Amino acid sequence: MATATLPRPTATGPKLPEIRQTQLFIGGQWVPSQSGKTFETINPATEEVIASVAEGDAVDVDLAAKAARKAFESGPWSTMDARDRGRLMNKLADLIEEEGDELAALESLDNGKPIRDAKAADLPLTIDALRYYAGYADKIHGQTIPVRGNYFCYTRKEPVGVVGQIIPWNFPMLMVAWKWGPALAAGCTIVMKPAEQTPLTCLRMARLAQKAGIPDGVINVVPGYGPTAGAAVVKHPGIDKIAFTGEGLTAQIIMREAAPTLKRITFELGGKSPNIIYADSDLDAAAAGAHFGLYFNQGQCCCAGSRVYVEEKIHDKFIEKVAAMNKTRKLGNQLDPATEQGPQVDKAQYDKIMKYIGIGKEQGATMVSGGSRYGDKGFFVQPTLFDGVKDDMAIAREEIFGPVMSVLTFKDTDDIVARANNTSFGLAAAVWTKDVGKAHYLAKKIKAGTVWINCYDVFDAAAPFGGFKMSGMGRELGEEGLRAYTETKTVTVAMG
Ligand code: NAI
Ligand code: MG
Repeated sequence: MATATLPRPTATGPKLPEIRQTQLFIGGQWVPSQSGKTFETINPATEEVIASVAEGDAVDVDLAAKAARKAFESGPWSTMDARDRGRLMNKLADLIEEEGDELAALESLDNGKPIRDAKAADLPLTIDALRYYAGYADKIHGQTIPVRGNYFCYTRKEPVGVVGQIIPWNFPMLMVAWKWGPALAAGCTIVMKPAEQTPLTCLRMARLAQKAGIPDGVINVVPGYGPTAGAAVVKHPGIDKIAFTGEGLTAQIIMREAAPTLKRITFELGGKSPNIIYADSDLDAAAAGAHFGLYFNQGQCCCAGSRVYVEEKIHDKFIEKVAAMNKTRKLGNQLDPATEQGPQVDKAQYDKIMKYIGIGKEQGATMVSGGSRYGDKGFFVQPTLFDGVKDDMAIAREEIFGPVMSVLTFKDTDDIVARANNTSFGLAAAVWTKDVGKAHYLAKKIKAGTVWINCYDVFDAAAPFGGFKMSGMGRELGEEGLRAYTETKTVTVAMG
């Protein structure tokens, strides 16, 4: 896999999607930024500019927050029947499905992910999340409470208000659906700041929301950079809640900057998820699952199974299997349907991964495969496999967010529980074994928001997702995902 010339999108190559939306979307209008500034979004396979996008800043965020406030307080959104909100959300999901091929291609182009993954994973999960929450819109209700005395007491579940949503670049379209879904179902209005690396599908989805009939001002999108546009969303006094997905260090800044206005916050952050493979597992399935759980999406997954613990006696066979899969993995132009691995999203991520590969070698891990750049253009990293990794090495402790697997070995269950939990993260984990008792014991003992047993990366809009410890606050998806978007109001009525 050493060097290869990359196939580039050409007139005869895969069809490039049309770029239609590059402006800010505020109060139902497509507008340039107040400053007139733009930024470029690039194709990470060719390093060529795809489009210039309006660069929002504090003044634009302010306009967006005001449009969202108006739509929340007085617009048709607050007076619309909940069931009709759900109908509009389903309509949006239908439009996304109709334009699925184009959206998947746009996502692939902007992010670098293989078109086959965008079609098989991102797109259907996006549609599913919107439909799932559309069904919730008219099923969000309070309780009647038997209080002491002659009083009638009930609760109302009200929308939290205007929500600021700041999303990353690894699953741009899916993150839009995970954020808009519960917010719209609950009756909130939105100011969204997509990641500067990948603004295009979010803008396209805003256009589809407009086409679906979601009223002006309900969804506002302000592309731009984190410390400017993102920070303005966090500080804005007219925004009631922040939902953020991204890096832990950014979350710490957000927590501090959200303090003066005491915003509600939910975080979905990174991880260093242990993937534990016992000798009594189906080794072919476990190796394939571990491979998918780490290399999927170029390793750019918050829940990537990046600490692979293999029981000593099957270690050699496991390494052999993963190395063989790496050897045949097809890297290349992300828009080519045969491509299995595309480029990393940008130079910063590429550099970070190469830095960790260097540290892995320096600290004495054995490089079995990969370790270098692929090709001579674009941000491609070969699928890399480190064996002989020790718990205290940086590549076993820190989030790399790239196609770098660290393999460690373990002796028995007692040994593995403590080591799996010896991390400040707690997003996900997996266990591969045919022993049901052992599987459930580990599911109980491991401190992580999601535990997969004999599978990896199985997502469903109905199943809550989020982190223990420094991997997050609150949960997304499922009924729990709605909670962050509602306030509970208690009403007490004297009777008689
Ligand atoms: P990031 O956390 O800086 O960016 C995520 C989003 O937050 C983007 O929209 C960005 O513009 C915004 N942002 C950045 N600084 C902000 C600020 N001060 N105030 C408000 N918003 C701000 O993540 P980045 O720099 O793209 O990636 C760095 C590392 O973070 C990755 O290598 C990976 O380890 C981790 N990461 C984790 C993700 C996850 O899904 N949990 C997603 C993306 C990155
Ligand atoms: Mg950052």
